[in-house]
Amino acid sequence: MIKKHLIKKLVDHAMSMIDKAHAPYSKYHVGASVLMDDETIIGGCNIESSSYGLTCCAERIAIYNAISGGLTSFKALAVVTKNGGFPCGACRQVIWEQCGNIPVFITNKNGKIIEKSSASLLPEAFDKKKLSP
Ligand code: THU
Repeated sequence: MIKKHLIKKLVDHAMSMIDKAHAPYSKYHVGASVLMDDETIIGGCNIESSSYGLTCCAERIAIYNAISGGLTSFKALAVVTKNGGFPCGACRQVIWEQCGNIPVFITNKNGKIIEKSSASLLPEAFDKKKLSP
């Protein structure tokens, strides 16, 4: 169980990451933050490309930001959008693979939070277990 004050801190951080979004094409601004086991919080925002396909979602940027900073033990993730959008399929795969089964706090601009586990967001997940003999 994640303590209430940490959930609030994580969601507030993800909300602040919305301001950093680079989304001139969709104008859909997304902020995401991950909580690490040492209680560090690392953020990310969506960054779009004029070629569209190179766009990277906020959740993946937050996760990659943490890993590239040497932090790999994930406790929770928060994602904030104006309308409470859920993580896309690609992000669900990356959350599952890099973070394991963690709580994901999906939040809208009014602060309404829906909590889902990363396992429930990706039923019957494909992962490295399927690749071992
Ligand atoms: N986006 C995210 O950042 N996370 C998601 O899980 C869904 C979509 C971004 C990508 C793109 O910049 C914009 O939202 C519209 O798809």
